[in-house]
Amino acid sequence: MSRSVLSVCDLSADEIGAVLDRAQHTKNQGDGRGSQLSGKTGLLIFQKPSLRTRVSFELAVTNLGGRALYLSPPEVGIGERESPEDVGGVAGRYCDLIVCRTFEQSNLDRLAASSGVPVVNALSDWEHPCQALADVLTIREHGGTSGRTLAYVGDGNNVARSLAIAAAGEGMHVRVSSPAGFELDQASVSAATQRAQASGGSLTLIADPEEAVDGADVVYTDTWTSMGQEQEAKQRLEAFAGYQVDAGLVARASRGASVMHCLPAHRGEEITDEVLDGPQSVVLDQAENRLHAQQALLAWLFD
Ligand code: CP
Repeated sequence: MSRSVLSVCDLSADEIGAVLDRAQHTKNQGDGRGSQLSGKTGLLIFQKPSLRTRVSFELAVTNLGGRALYLSPPEVGIGERESPEDVGGVAGRYCDLIVCRTFEQSNLDRLAASSGVPVVNALSDWEHPCQALADVLTIREHGGTSGRTLAYVGDGNNVARSLAIAAAGEGMHVRVSSPAGFELDQASVSAATQRAQASGGSLTLIADPEEAVDGADVVYTDTWTSMGQEQEAKQRLEAFAGYQVDAGLVARASRGASVMHCLPAHRGEEITDEVLDGPQSVVLDQAENRLHAQQALLAWLFD
C-alpha cells in the first residue's frame, strides 16, 4: 500500500518529528546520499512555475539514487487535457513516485487515488506541506520550536495552513494575523489546535499584526498575491495594507527573532528589502532546507 503526502495532516506530529530528525542528520553529514530510490523514477508534474520546489525535488530523487523526470506547466493539463484519474493511472504505470504541483487540491486527491504509487504535494492552492517541513526544520536550527512563538503575518493561505499545523504539532505558540476576509479557515484552525493541545503549543488568530508580532521568536510572511490570483492583485494590495513586515514591525518581536519567507517575495509589498536582506532573515536557510526535508521525506516513504 503506497503512502502519499497530500496534506501536512497526512503526517502525524511524531512522523514530522522523525522526518525532520532524519533531515537534520543528513544535513549534518554533509553528503547524505542514500539508495532508497535506486532504480526508481520520480515524476515531477508541475502546473505552476517553481525554482525551489523543482530543483530540490530533482536533487532529492537523484541523491537517493533515483531518476527524476520533469513535466512543465504546459505539458500535462491535469483536468483539462486529461482527468486527474487518467494522469495518475498512466503515470503510476511508468513511475514509482509522483511529485505534483497543481491548483485545486482535488486534482491531487484524485490523481493519488488512481496512481498506485506515493504522491507528494509540491504545492496546491490548499496546502504546501513540504514547505512547512523545511520551515519547521529551519526554526529548529534557529533557536528551536517547542515553547517558542511564531507570528505569521499575512494571507491565511496554503503556506500559512501547512505551517500552522506543523508548527503547532512541534509545541509552538502560533499566532496568525490576517486582514478580514483572508483569515486562516476554521478547519485548519481546528487541526492546528488539536495538534497544539497534544504538544503544549497553541494557535491564536490575532487581527492586529503589531499585537501578533509582540515578543515573537519568529516572524513569517508570504506573498499577498499567490500564483493564480493575479487578477485580484489590486484588491489584495489594498486589503493587506498595514500587514507589511518592515523594520518597525520586526522591532516589536523578541531580540534576534528570525524572519522567514518561503519565497518568491514581492519585495516592497509583504516585506521590505531591508528586512528580507537583513541580519535576522533566514530565508536562504529555509530555501536550502527544502532539499534536506524533502530528501528525508522521500527516504522515509521508500524505506
Ligand atoms: N517556496 C516555493 O515553493 O518556491 P517555488 O515556487 O520556487 O518552488
